[in-house]
Amino acid sequence: MIGRLNHVAIAVSDITAAAKIYSDTLGAKVTAQVQLPEHGVTTVFVELPNTKIELLEPLGENSPIAAFLERNASGGVHHLCYEVEDILAARDKLVSEGARVLGDGNPRIGAHNKPILFLHPKDFCGTLVELEQV
Ligand code: CO
Repeated sequence: MIGRLNHVAIAVSDITAAAKIYSDTLGAKVTAQVQLPEHGVTTVFVELPNTKIELLEPLGENSPIAAFLERNASGGVHHLCYEVEDILAARDKLVSEGARVLGDGNPRIGAHNKPILFLHPKDFCGTLVELEQV
């Protein structure tokens, strides 16, 4: 059901410094910062030949990554995003197998203007999983 690894997301407390590490130290292609107030994050994408790295910095008071950064002060891997062809069919199959979808269970529009869902980390080997319909 899942397809390509779309991106690995890394939560950081300073996205400008993190983007510089990827562009200058690691020599990768890095996009401009984009603020997503409805998701409580500022994002930058690092474009690699076979996937992307999503850098996430908290934005606003109730950022969903604020607590994660309190536990991981120097940043850390926050989630993995897998591509699916039909996000509603994927959700229904996962729910029927007992997996928990975060939020109200309905897809939202993510950083690439495509429908996304997040799955409970306790159901997926301790890893927060994002599904993106491509
Ligand atoms: Co993501």
